[in-house]
Amino acid sequence: MRLRVRPQPGRALAGAATVPGDKSVSHRALIFGALGTGDSVVTGFSGGDDNRRTAAALRALGVGVEERGTTVIVHGAGLGGLTRAVGPLDCGNSGTTIRLLCGLLCGQPFPTALDGDASLRARPMRRVAEPLARMGARIDGAPGARPGDIVPPLRVHGLARGARLVGTTHDLAVASAQVKSAILLAALGARGVTRVTEPELSRDHTERLMAALGLPLSVIPGARPAVALDGDAVRPFPGRPFAVPGDLSSAAFLLAAGALVPGSRVTVRGVSVNPTRTGVLDALTAMGLVIGRGAERDEGGEPTADLTVAADDLAATHIAGALTVRSIDELPILAALATRAAGTTEIRDAGELRVKESDRIATMAAELRRLGAELEELPDGLRVHGPAPLRGARCTAHGDHRVAMSLCVLALVAEGETVVEEADSIVTSFPGFTAALGALGADVTQE
Ligand code: S3P
Repeated sequence: MRLRVRPQPGRALAGAATVPGDKSVSHRALIFGALGTGDSVVTGFSGGDDNRRTAAALRALGVGVEERGTTVIVHGAGLGGLTRAVGPLDCGNSGTTIRLLCGLLCGQPFPTALDGDASLRARPMRRVAEPLARMGARIDGAPGARPGDIVPPLRVHGLARGARLVGTTHDLAVASAQVKSAILLAALGARGVTRVTEPELSRDHTERLMAALGLPLSVIPGARPAVALDGDAVRPFPGRPFAVPGDLSSAAFLLAAGALVPGSRVTVRGVSVNPTRTGVLDALTAMGLVIGRGAERDEGGEPTADLTVAADDLAATHIAGALTVRSIDELPILAALATRAAGTTEIRDAGELRVKESDRIATMAAELRRLGAELEELPDGLRVHGPAPLRGARCTAHGDHRVAMSLCVLALVAEGETVVEEADSIVTSFPGFTAALGALGADVTQE
C-alpha cells in the first residue's frame, strides 16, 4: 500500500481526534488478563495488527480471547494454565509480542516456536535470550547480523515439568521496556527475587499493571531505576477490567500535523500522558510549541489527558539521554519536525533506532533528504539543519509504520505531491491514520 499526500496551501487543519488504544498497554492487558483467573474485559483495545498478534498467540496457547472491536474479553487461564501451541506463533511485525512472549513462555513446561515477518526476522533477540538464560531458560534462534546475536525464528525450549526458573539480578546496559517486561514475566514463575536495573527508566506499564494486580513488585527509583519481583510471593490473581488509554505514540503524528500546517489547531482526546512516554511533549515544548492539557484523569492506572496544539514557528532542540528514552518511538516524527525548525537539532543516544522496525536513523535520513531536508546521519542519531524548503517526492517507508506516518505528516508542508511507498505497516499501530488526518482537513489517501 502507498500513501499519497496532496498539500493544500492556505488550508489549516482543525478539529478533535481520537487515536487507537495504547499499543504497549494493550499487549500487557491481554497477557495479564490471560494470567488471571476468570474473565478480564479490556476496553479501548487497539485494533492494530501488533496487538492482534498477541491476542492470536494467547489463543494458540489455550486462552479464550474474544475480540469485539475495541473491547476484548480474555478468559484467563491463570498462572500455570497456558497449554502448548500447535505450530509456531506468528508475531508478525511486533517486537513487543515476541520479546514479551519469550519471558512468558520460557518457564513453561512445554516448548514454543516464535516467528515473524521479514522485519522481525532481522531484529536482535539476544537481549532477551541472554538474561532469561541466566534464570535457567533456553532460547535458540537463527544467527543474527551482529556476531553472537540471534534473530527469529526462535525456539523457546521451556522447562522440565516441575522445574522453575531462578530469580537473578539483571543490570541492563540499554534501557528497554521490552527486555525489562520479558524478565518480569519470567520472574512470575521463578524461585526467589528477580531484579532489573536500567540506565534510564523505560516505559513502566508492566510495573503499573503488576502493582494494580497486587503482585509482589517493588519499584526502587533513583539514578539507576530498579524493580524487583519476589517469585515466591506470587499468588493467583482474579481477572479485572483493563481500560486502555489512547496511544500518545499515535497521537504524536496528529499533533505534529497540527504543529506544522500554518493556522492549524488540533486536539487529540484521551491520550496517555504517562511520564515515561511524554518525552515527545517535552521536545515539542522545547521547540516552542504550547501543548494544552485538558480533562486530566486516570485511565486504568495511567494518567490520561486531552492534548491540544496550535501551529507555530519551530525552534531547533537537543534530544539526548533520558529524553531520548522517553521519546524513543517519536524520534522519527521529531526528526521530521526538526527539518522545519530554525537552527540545528541534534538527536543523540538513540542507537536503539537502528534496530527498530527499520534502521530508523538510516531510513529517516534517506527519506527526509528526498523531501529536501539537510541533515547528517550520526552513529547514535541525527543532526538536522532547518528550516529547509521541502518539495514533494516519491519516498519509501521501508515497511516501517512510524517512518510512513512521519513522512506523510511532513509532506503536508512540502511543495507538491508526495507518495510514500511500502506503507502497509501503518496497520500495525494506527489503522485509521489517513482517515484521522482526513477528518482534520488534510488530503491524504491510501492506494
Ligand atoms: C515497547 C518498548 C520499546 C518501544 C516499543 C514498545 C514496549 O522498545 O520502542 O515500541 O511496549 O515495551 P524497547 O524495549 O526495545 O526500547
